[in-house]
Amino acid sequence: MRKNITVLLNFFVLISFFILPAKSDPIFELGKDVFLNKAVCSSCHILADAKSDGQIGPNLNTIRPDKARVLNAVKNGIGVMPAYEGQLTNEEIEAVSYYVFIAADKD
Ligand code: HEC
Repeated sequence: MRKNITVLLNFFVLISFFILPAKSDPIFELGKDVFLNKAVCSSCHILADAKSDGQIGPNLNTIRPDKARVLNAVKNGIGVMPAYEGQLTNEEIEAVSYYVFIAADKD
């Protein structure tokens, strides 16, 4: 009986290694916060993960940009989209680009 419980515990520890990192990714969470609250990208872009429905810029779930493309748009601006260099820290620019890259590909 004791042995079974130990085996079971080991099993859960092992499983959590695979599941938890995907759920609690601090860069993803920071990027999401920047997207919704600090830079409010959500006001102009649709992104399912952020439940945003802005209609000014392209739907990010449709264009599914890679990280370099997001980084470029956020740093330098594009069309009517403002540049965020100087508005956000480099860490926030990295995080929001990572977030959009991962989240846009999800659904
Ligand atoms: C004021 C509205 C507005 C805000 C705020 C805004 N965008 Fe945009 N975004 C646009 C528009 C408009 C375009 C299309 C520009 C064009 O192609 O001329 C665009 C384009 C993009 C693109 C595609 C770039 C490409 O290479 O085609 C990405 C990625 C993007 N935005 C991400 C973001 C992120 C991340 C944020 C927040 C940090 C953000 N946007 C904030 C309006 C906005």
